[in-house]
Amino acid sequence: MSLPLTLSRAAQLLGVPRAVLQKHIAAGELPSHDGMVNTEDLQKLYPDVELEDSGAFERIMQIKEQAFAKRVRERILPNQEILAQRLAAQSEELEEVRRHLAEYHRLVEALRARIDEMLETAPFPQLAELARRIDEGLAEVLASEAPADRLEVLDDVLRVMTAQVKVRPSGHEFFVEGSETVLEAALRAGLAPSYGCRNGNCGLCKARIVSGQVKQIHPTDYPLSASERAQGHALLCSNTAVTDLVIEMIEASRPDDIPEQEVTAKVKQVTPLTNDILLLHLVTPRSQRLRFLAGQMVTLSVSSATTNFRGDYPIASCPCDDRNLLFHIRRDENDAFASRLFSDPFKPGDLVSVFGPFGEFVLQKDSSDDLLFVACDTGFAPIKSLIENAAAADLPGLLHLVWAATRPDGHYFENQCRAWAEALETFSYATLVAPDAAAAGTAAAGQVLQIPDFARRMVYVAGPAEFVAGVSDSLKSAGLPDDRLKYETV
Ligand code: FES
Repeated sequence: MSLPLTLSRAAQLLGVPRAVLQKHIAAGELPSHDGMVNTEDLQKLYPDVELEDSGAFERIMQIKEQAFAKRVRERILPNQEILAQRLAAQSEELEEVRRHLAEYHRLVEALRARIDEMLETAPFPQLAELARRIDEGLAEVLASEAPADRLEVLDDVLRVMTAQVKVRPSGHEFFVEGSETVLEAALRAGLAPSYGCRNGNCGLCKARIVSGQVKQIHPTDYPLSASERAQGHALLCSNTAVTDLVIEMIEASRPDDIPEQEVTAKVKQVTPLTNDILLLHLVTPRSQRLRFLAGQMVTLSVSSATTNFRGDYPIASCPCDDRNLLFHIRRDENDAFASRLFSDPFKPGDLVSVFGPFGEFVLQKDSSDDLLFVACDTGFAPIKSLIENAAAADLPGLLHLVWAATRPDGHYFENQCRAWAEALETFSYATLVAPDAAAAGTAAAGQVLQIPDFARRMVYVAGPAEFVAGVSDSLKSAGLPDDRLKYETV
């Protein structure tokens, strides 16, 4: 029997990005109807898939945790109550299938008996042939020892472990795993849902549950009206999914959709990446996180009674983790905040004011284009955020990074690039070193121009002004349309 699956579910079962399956579909190797594929065709394409080594869980874990370095999946299993409800639902389904099978069997036996009666009075050879074929067919079915379809078995397991959520009107899909809330799952999946406090107070995460069942797992103070409840509204930050869901949810698609916020965060750690670059790790209060789109910037400031040091920096982490904000700060005597950080490094617990987000250097998520990232030095920071977000959202295009450095030790996160390349079949990268930003721009543009069809990709460029100008001018002169280029000066 062949089971139809959405592309997201099939990718989850096999532990591969959706882009890989989409390539098989485009190449005519995997039939697809209305966006669905079936287990039989998947099994032909991945004949060696086994429950034990398909790696669905492990590879997803690897991608999320290597790419995002920490957090997210504290518990893989749903809580006992939800597990029990999902198992009960699956048992009901199984019981219904058993009942249908028993009825079909009785029907076939009754028809077979009727044929015998008819043969006694009218021994037509066609009837005898029909009786023989029924007997042989039944014997074959009862003797069959064909192994269960492994993908279907894995799908059954995943349906107990996770719930699939389809979002209207965007059509996005994601999976609620373990005991996470629907909001946490949406963020982990790289979406940009509307939310605020994340603790049941503001009501901004309110969404309509069109079908399926949710369960409240955190207390809330926000009062849903009787009519909102009657229409099926629920707070996504305090509910988890018991069953697969279809929901109507507001999502940010442009920077304008995200309000400006002011958050006082604590320094968690300051770590040298090179002699001239520090990694600043801030943690927001649990109840006041920063909502932003990947690639955006914020203003950081520290104040004392007499001084105020401030600077604008791109966030180097993914919005899927809105508490842990990372920044790559370069030594720069013209930058008051950076100078203060290098001369008198912050200590864990120090307070830093975060204002923002701002900036248009964000992903166009509803496109299936291949993405090309071109960074120089700490221009890698917003690019890292974009790549992590693209990976979390499982965007369908290929991701390629060209990272130029103006110092030999400038690829301060090359381990991270290697980890992405190992975890994501759709990611590749190249590095280069040049004596200054202008030369880096010329060299990086030269590499990009050798990529086939580069002008059909969406290109994101970040780095010093000379680098951005050099790469942008070269690519536009070579035919890259304006609307396929986004850039940020860092
Ligand atoms: S985010 Fe504020 S109530 Fe859910």
